Amino acid sequence: MRVIKQTSEMARTAGALRRAHQTIGLVPTMGALHDGHLSLIRAAAKQTRVVVVSLFVNPLQFGPGEDYDGYPRDLKQDLNLAKAAGTDIVFAPHVSQIYPADFSTSVQVDGLSDILEGQARPGHFRGVATVVMKLFQIVQPMVAYVGQKDYQQALIIQRMVKDLGIPTAIRLLPTVREPDGLAMSSRNRYLNPEERRQATVITRALREAADGIRAGEHNPKTVADALRHLMTREPLVRIDYVALVNARTLAPLPRLTGRVAILTAAWVGTTRLIDNILVDV
Ligand code: PAF
Repeated sequence: MRVIKQTSEMARTAGALRRAHQTIGLVPTMGALHDGHLSLIRAAAKQTRVVVVSLFVNPLQFGPGEDYDGYPRDLKQDLNLAKAAGTDIVFAPHVSQIYPADFSTSVQVDGLSDILEGQARPGHFRGVATVVMKLFQIVQPMVAYVGQKDYQQALIIQRMVKDLGIPTAIRLLPTVREPDGLAMSSRNRYLNPEERRQATVITRALREAADGIRAGEHNPKTVADALRHLMTREPLVRIDYVALVNARTLAPLPRLTGRVAILTAAWVGTTRLIDNILVDV
């Protein structure tokens, strides 16, 4: 496995691979790799000739007071995990490689970026879209692999690729969960044992909501109220939002029909977690 830190070297390498007709699969990450990332890498290794994993904690997608400084960074462990999962190239640039001092361009996907996570974290998706666009330019992947846990992010990347005519297919793969259901996230390591225990209510509530819909409850308010009620039974859990929306557009639904996304964000102690589940009605 090769580790590349310079943008110019990564771009040169990608160009040579493409000229040699090698398909490049990209798994964009912020490091702190867990089984969710590894499932994306393994899928990329099955489907593309050269797997590139980017490790870059992107300052542009963190708001003031968020966890940019404290975000877990462990390059050595990430390299070991990436290699074992089938990575060919790790692209781990320094911030100055991605954002030189005079960097002044950003990518904004209107609409989808302004609601839910975007409303809670202003500027977040502009940061995500900008870095993903830049990574796509440098790595030139034919396929990029993203996880369903960040569902809104995945829709935004798909929209950006479509709108800007970027020749990269976006593969969305299922959320990988701990045995007790908690969605894998680099931020789970912030939780103390009691918070970790209470955090499982998020998945339980989502699953119960999905079961309720499948059993015939099609009123979004009834489902959302029940979901909120269950989640707030855990004293350390504070709901940020619960939304039942059209899974393609994220538009609110007056009645639950078609493919429904149930999305939630909640604080567990001082850690903010997101999760979602899709239901076909
Ligand atoms: O999901 C993430 O880890 C990040 O938002 C991404 C896509 C790597 C962009 O920084």
